[in-house]
Amino acid sequence: MVLHAEAGSTNRLAAADPRPGTVVVADHQHAGRGRLDRTWETPPGTALTFSVVVDPGMPDARWPLLPLVAGLAVAGGLARLDPARLGTAVGLKWPNDVLIGEDKVAGILLERVSARRPVAVIGIGVNVAMAADQLPVPTATSLALAGVAVPREDVLGAVLETLSRTLSQVRADPSAVLAEYRRRCVTLGREVNVQLPAGEGLTGTAESVDEEGRLVVSGTAVGAGDVVHVRPT
Ligand code: BTN
Repeated sequence: MVLHAEAGSTNRLAAADPRPGTVVVADHQHAGRGRLDRTWETPPGTALTFSVVVDPGMPDARWPLLPLVAGLAVAGGLARLDPARLGTAVGLKWPNDVLIGEDKVAGILLERVSARRPVAVIGIGVNVAMAADQLPVPTATSLALAGVAVPREDVLGAVLETLSRTLSQVRADPSAVLAEYRRRCVTLGREVNVQLPAGEGLTGTAESVDEEGRLVVSGTAVGAGDVVHVRPT
């Protein structure tokens, strides 16, 4: 494990030397990157920001499951920290935004890096100790705001443990992991707006997550995009 007092982006550091098993942690990250070319910014001392290099040991056709697997692992790790408060409150917005109730507590940026063989750099940011006035957007939350006061080290330990276990499970039985993912996925059954990578939008009902990990919205399977849950007015 490599611990940096300050780093630009742990994903960038991990991708520069992508040896499987490497864990890069930053006490503070000042140029964090999010999905879909967004930034990920957190005030010093309030978030857990780290990246793990993984050799998934899966055929290329199964790689699209990895972002979902990572989301499921983070959700499971957070739920384990305080089963009474978080056991059922932690959900997943497809593909891998981790929510408490309706609000985002953790995000994941998974990148494929070509080393001797392709590896996944899985970057995880968890809002641990942020107060309400430190949240980046009103639709975010933190473990502390959910009533869970826990050191960042404990969050790291819990997430690494569930990540390792969930990766083993998906190699052995992807359908079982997808079934567990669907149980945690609060997008299913909701009205959603999906911003597709090419720019167009899709609105409809999130009906299912198929065996390739795609979200099926009113009959159309979507492999990538930004999902917004349409909130009841
Ligand atoms: C998202 O929800 O858009 C993904 C956010 C991912 C943030 C984490 S923090 C650690 C790692 N390093 C980065 O630069 N990004 C990820």
